[in-house]
Order: sequence, then C-alpha cells, then structure tokens
Amino acid sequence: MNHFELRGGILHAEDVPLPEIADAVGTPVYVYSRATLMRHARIFRDALAPLGNPWLAFAVKANPNLAVLRVLAREGYGADVVSAGELDRAIAAGMEPGTIVFSGVGKTGAELAHGLKSGIGQFNVESEEEGFELAAIAARMDRKADCALRVNPDVDAGTHEKISTGKKDSKFGVSIGDAASVYHRLEREAGLAIRGIAVHIGSQLASLAPLERAFEKVGRLIAELRAAGSCISHVDLGGGLGVPYKAGDSYPDPSDYAAMVMRVTHGWGVRLMFEPGRVIAGNAGVLLSRVIRVKRGAQRPFVVMDAAMNDLARPAMYGAWHDIDAVAPDGATMTAHIVGPICETGDTFATDRTCDRLEAGDLAVFRTAGAYGATMASSYNSRGFVPEVLVDGDRFAVVADRIAPAAIMQAERVPDWLT
Ligand code: LLP
Repeated sequence: MNHFELRGGILHAEDVPLPEIADAVGTPVYVYSRATLMRHARIFRDALAPLGNPWLAFAVKANPNLAVLRVLAREGYGADVVSAGELDRAIAAGMEPGTIVFSGVGKTGAELAHGLKSGIGQFNVESEEEGFELAAIAARMDRKADCALRVNPDVDAGTHEKISTGKKDSKFGVSIGDAASVYHRLEREAGLAIRGIAVHIGSQLASLAPLERAFEKVGRLIAELRAAGSCISHVDLGGGLGVPYKAGDSYPDPSDYAAMVMRVTHGWGVRLMFEPGRVIAGNAGVLLSRVIRVKRGAQRPFVVMDAAMNDLARPAMYGAWHDIDAVAPDGATMTAHIVGPICETGDTFATDRTCDRLEAGDLAVFRTAGAYGATMASSYNSRGFVPEVLVDGDRFAVVADRIAPAAIMQAERVPDWLT
C-alpha cells in the first residue's frame, strides 16, 4: 500500500495533487511520500520485533537522499553503506555511527580508515585480503574493528542475473566452504574483533525459498564455528525482499519473511541484522514526467516522455517493469511504446504497453521508483540530474535540487594547451 492515489480524478501524493509539484518544480521530478516511507519502515520493524532487538540498517544505495535517510533515522533505522560517500550521508542525515554497517567488495584503505575514524558499528568484510588490510589499518590506529565475514552461500536467488549476488561465481563474500578457515585466520588478527557472519544473495527476490536455503547454510556454518570455539554474536541477513512493480502482483510480505527468519534462526542466540532497501523505499516514490509528444510509429505510437534512461535506468538496465499511469486519466487506454528522448533504442521504458491514454503535455508517473531511481541517475546526453521532492501530508519540499547541465559543465576545464 502506498500514498499515491487518485482523488477527484487527479493523482495525489498524500494530500498534494501531482500537477502542483510539476508546476512548482518542473518535470521530470522524483516525488517521495513520507507517510509511505514511515509505513514501510514500521511494517518491517514491527514484523521483526519478535526477534528481540534486531539491528535495522537501511541499504542507503536504494535511496541515499538526506531527507529520506532522516525519515528512516527517526524510525530507528541505521544504515548499510558501501562507500565513504554513503557513510558520510548516513551520518549527515542523523544516523548514529554505531548503527552503520559498511559492506562492499572494494572498500579502499582510505574508506576502511574513514569507517574506523567515524566509529561505525560493523564492517562486513568480503574477503580474507580485505580482512588483513582492515586489521593492519586498525592496529596502526590502535583500534579493533568490529566485523563480520560475508559469505557466499552458492544459492541462486532466482532474480535478474545482474542483481544476484550469492552464486558461487559471484564477486561477493567468501565461499561458504572456505568461510570457517578464513574466519579462524582473521580471528588471530589483533586489529579485528570478528564476531559474526553476513549474507546477502540478491535483490528483488520473488520467493523466500532461496533466502531460507542461504540462511540454513549460515546456521550450519555458525554451528561449525562455535564447535571450533569461535564467538558468533552477530549475523547480518542482508536485504533482498522483492516488491510488486505491477499492480496486482503479490510478493512475500515482511510478516512472511519474519516468520521464515524466526523458524530458521531459532536457537542461534545472536543479534540479527537486516539491510532492507527496496522494500522500504520502492513504493514510496514515483518519477513524475510530462509527455513531450506522441509520435506515429510503424506498429504503435511512441509516447515520448521528458524522463529518460538517465533519470530512471532500471528498464534499460534490467528490462524492469514500472507501471505507468496518467496523472489525470480520462478513462481511455492506449497501447504504445513509452520512450525517453535519449539517442539510443535502449531508452525505452515500455514496449507495447497498454496504459492510460496519454497526449502531448499530459503528466504521467512511473511507479515504484523510490528505490534505485534517482540514485542511479546519470547526466548522459548532457541532461541534468532530476530533482527530488518529499511530500508530507499537504506540504512538500524540494529535497534535492535539479542540477542543470550548465552546472555539470562548470566542473569541466579545457587545458591551456588546447586553447
Ligand atoms: N545489502 C547488500 C549487501 C546489498 O548489496 C543490497 C543491494 C542490499 C542490502 C539491499 O537490497 P534490497 O533490500 O534493496 O533488495 N539496482 C538494482 C538493485 C541492486 C541491489 C544491490 N544490492 C535494481 O534497480 O533493481
């Protein structure tokens, strides 16, 4: 459920009619609903509450906007970050450093040191090599880095291959077969306080079964490590819950997920950690766009939007589906190709899509764009960066300015020797 609904024939974000935002801020623009973010944050938190005191770390990569992070910080969320940039954002948004987990396969030495200096809660170490480097940096700083070892359980998440992370050839984590020996070697490092296991097998999972298989493998690893005398106090189960992108689709909800986690982790005796991204932010945002023109095509009309693949990359990158709805539907429908203005055929949001009838000048939304939307934008074709707006009841605020192409050009120089 989300707070983007028709009222009096006009699509609203909470109590704000979307045309009001388009008039004030221009299009394309990402629009987030604070009430939806809070609702999803609470549903997820309440579902997991019976687990004791789970550590909830929002996956900042899904939506790193400072205002969005602030909303989630106020709901008790920490952050899962994968770069110094994300780490600084989480702290700037008001997240306690101690609630931040640092994941990622390519943390640089500078980023590891920055994490230590910032006092983050945990490093999820993705290789033995990274573990040794972190240990050395921590020892030089006279510190001990709290960390978990990310394992690769060799489970097929059954999602798009580009967002699958837990198969044996994936670059993430340490193969589960090697995990115990790597863990024991890292335990001997004076700069590390290794205390657990982390796992994340992929994103937009349609079924809980692969997660359950991965968690069961982690459970067997914990037992093996404990039998060898290791201390395991924290287990990070990652993110991955899918959300419906098509009206009417149904996905496992947080209560199904929580029931599965409770069953599998029963008796583990650890603090469980979670890194939800999409399930919190996905349906809390839309990309609001205006139709530039409708062009005749050989088979179907092309609806050319003012948003493009640089603003919302998911359809071009993963062939992802986003529902497209008119802001002021007149009841008629059309079947069309929905495209952006960028000069490649990949800049296609939908092919042969039956949707509300759209004409030049009409406003439309791409739904479920609150996660992996603005954050994946680029300035390809020298387009600017889309602004972001947060709605709260009947008020709204621009929470990220539009960055005009001219501002991007200002960061570029032509060297003297070319003038
Ligand atoms: N934890 C780790 C270590 C991750 O790599 C990710 C996502 C998450 C948590 C959050 O996963 P979520 O709960 O959102 O599924 N750009 C792609 C998604 C990439 C996900 C990358 N990792 C997309 O637009 O579908």
